[in-house]
Formats: sequence, structure tokens, C-alpha cells
Amino acid sequence: MDLKAVVAAELERGRRRSLDLLAPLPDAELVRQHSSIMSPLVWDLAHVGNYEELWLLRAVAGAPPIDATLDDLYDAFRHPRPSRPALPLLRPPEARRYIADVRARVLDVLERVDLDDGDRPLLAGAFVYGMVVQHEHQHDETMLATLQLMEGDGYRPLAPPPPRGTPPSQPEVRVPAGPFVMGTDDDPWAYDNERPAHVVDLAAFWIDTAPVTNGAYLGFVEDGGYDDRRWWTDEGWSWRQQAPDEHAHPHFWRRTGPGAWARRRFGVDEDLPLDEPVQHVCWHEAAAYASWAGKRLPTEAEWEKSASWAPTGAGRKRRYPWGDHADPERANLAQRHFGPAPVGAYPGGASPSGVHQLVGDVWEWTSSEFDPYPGFRSFPYREYSEAFFGSGYKVLRGGSWATAPCAARTTFRNWDFPIRRQIFAGFRCARDDA
Ligand code: AVJ
Ligand code: FE
Repeated sequence: MDLKAVVAAELERGRRRSLDLLAPLPDAELVRQHSSIMSPLVWDLAHVGNYEELWLLRAVAGAPPIDATLDDLYDAFRHPRPSRPALPLLRPPEARRYIADVRARVLDVLERVDLDDGDRPLLAGAFVYGMVVQHEHQHDETMLATLQLMEGDGYRPLAPPPPRGTPPSQPEVRVPAGPFVMGTDDDPWAYDNERPAHVVDLAAFWIDTAPVTNGAYLGFVEDGGYDDRRWWTDEGWSWRQQAPDEHAHPHFWRRTGPGAWARRRFGVDEDLPLDEPVQHVCWHEAAAYASWAGKRLPTEAEWEKSASWAPTGAGRKRRYPWGDHADPERANLAQRHFGPAPVGAYPGGASPSGVHQLVGDVWEWTSSEFDPYPGFRSFPYREYSEAFFGSGYKVLRGGSWATAPCAARTTFRNWDFPIRRQIFAGFRCARDDA
């Protein structure tokens, strides 16, 4: 397939996903704000279309605005999430019409555009199209987080169960000391924050072969970990004390009896699945668990080396832990199961270092702050990455069960505040080579 056909197919795949996710909901649920930390779903939907208009019509083709009032309404920086329901937003039928109108014009422009124009870095490798496709998928994941927060018996996705898992035979592996290439120069759809590629020399370290499970995390809960000041940072301890009942276990967990727990997933209470990666923990909880376990969180460099570095193979790094191509059998991505799979469910997805489930299932908190790589240059706009550097965000790696394969590469960097729990995040532990 030529590049334009790939772009058109990826645009279509992203749009199908957005519309399918929202299809079961009546318009009233799209307009309602289900949580003050999230947008009304109809804001996400029209924002995705407005972003596409800004980049693929106005920036690429110099087109005039379709409706001059929309840029302000759907500018995430001008209107923080709590204020969005009060805006004069497009209503659901108007929003659907708007995004379809944008898309029709985009496909028109795509036919005429010269992706090989050497004077237009936006177009090289269809970068700006990749940016817009990934943006829609990122908002789809955000919308899934909103749907998970919906109260009552709101959202009931139908999905096949994930494969069973056999936990990896070794609980942790040693990654030897030495340099590896972090980030990328040549992945055409990589964001500015993944660039430039640079050599990082790491000391040897140990890393868990699997994410921390609900069962293991329950050990921390039942051991009184949430009430033991020793395991928490100062900030973590004040987070713990802010909500004595809610901040005493992962979000969406509920105690049902002595030592017995349920978790709520899309409005349904289930027995806590002990063999699945824990999710909906914030960075403070992840760090506290790691201290309790006598370990620590990996740095993002350790995470990326574990995921992408091959001890043999001419030093080339891998786009995915198993190789360079997306493969639905090797990771739990794209909401195929609407939840994490048990630990050990994707042995074919292990990295050359023998680390499982780095990509998919749950985003993994790292110990690192979101900062630029040496030589970083903002491209194509400051508000994707640069505006967030140095503001106390922690880096998450690897993508979750809700992440699209085109945004789950081993160099991809996500970030959020250390108190955030609505995202599909868990963690694994690491330790120094003593
Ligand atoms: C990279 C997931 C932190 O959702 O805030 C969406 C991505 N940027 N719209 C976010 C993003 C602009 C961003 N994250
Ligand atoms: Fe956005």
C-alpha cells in the first residue's frame, strides 16, 4: 500500500473506533459531565474534529476556518476540563456532522497533497497525519476513562475475555550494564518528545518480568501498607490523608468481607481478579508499594532499555518489544478485551531481555519526571509536549489495553500528575544490582 492509502486507512480506523465507542450512548450521556476531572464526551468528539481541521485543512492546505467560533471552544488550554460543560458546545448531532464534514475535506486534500515536498517537514513521512490519527486515539482512551467513571449501570461493552496466563518462570531479570539508544530519529510518526535518539549508559539493574498484580498489591493493602508512613513520600502521605476512605486502596476497589475485594469495571462489580495487573493506582501508590516490596520504580530509561534493546542484532532497537511490527497476538491493545489480561498471557510479546507485557494491559508509572531529551526541539507546536516539561508530571510507558497500536511503540512517552488514578495505569518494580 502506498503512504496515502495507509494514511486514509488509519484515519478511518481511528474514526470507526471513536464512533463505535460512543454508539451505545444516548445523546444526553454525551452532553453530561460524568466527572469534574473529565470533559463531556461530546467535547472530546468535536475537539478531535477541530484538531483535525486545524492541522490537516488549515496547516496543510491553508484552508479558511469552517466556523470561526470553534477554535476557542475546543482549545484545551483556554478551557480546563471542569469549565467545559458550561461552554456553548456543539450538540451531539452537530458535532457528528462537523467531524464528518472535516473528514470529507481532509480526504480531498490528501489526494492532492505532495507528501514528498522536501520543504515541508510537517508532511515528511505523513507526520502530521500520524499526529492527528494518534490524537484521536488518545482521546478515545480518555473517553474510555470517562466511561469507566460513569456512575450507575452506564456503559457495558461487549468483548471476548482475554487469553489465560502463566506467570513468567522468573519474577525478575537482570539487564546488564551498558549503553543503549533511547528515543528515535527515524520513526516518522514519533512525537517531538521522543526525539532525538541519544545514547544512555545505564548501570546494571533488575526489573520485574511482569506488572504488579492485584494479588500482589492486595498483600500490601492487607499488610497495612496504606497506614504505614515508612513507605510513602511526603507528598504521597499527604495524598493518602486527603481522603482517608477512598485513598486506602486502588480506585474502583471495594472491600466485600475480610480479605475479600471486588472491583468495578464499566459499572459491573466483579471479584478482584488476582492474576491481572493492578490498575487505577496513582504514582504515589505505586511508589509506596515498591518501597514496601524493598524495590523501586524503574526510571523511564530502564523501562525503555528493557523493552527495546536487544543484546544481539547489530544494536538496532525495536519498535515493539517483540520486533518492529504491530501484532495483535502479542499484546493486549486497542480495547480488544476492555480490560487488562492476566500476567503471562502474551509470552510471544516478551522483550529480548525476557520482560513480559511491557506494551499493553496497563500504562506503567516510572520514577522519571517528564523532561525533554538532550537536543529537544519543539515540533510542530509547544502545547503538545514542551508546555508540560518541568511541571511535576511523571512519565508513564507502554500503553494500556485501551491504547492503539500506532501509539504504543517502545519510545512513546505519556505523562500525568502523580495523583491521577482515572487513567489505565499500573506499574512494575525494579531494583539496583546490589
Ligand atoms: C499525552 C495523553 C498526556 O491527553 O493530555 C491530547 C495527549 N494532547 N490532546 C493528553 C493530548 C492533546 C495528552 N497525553
Ligand atoms: Fe487533544
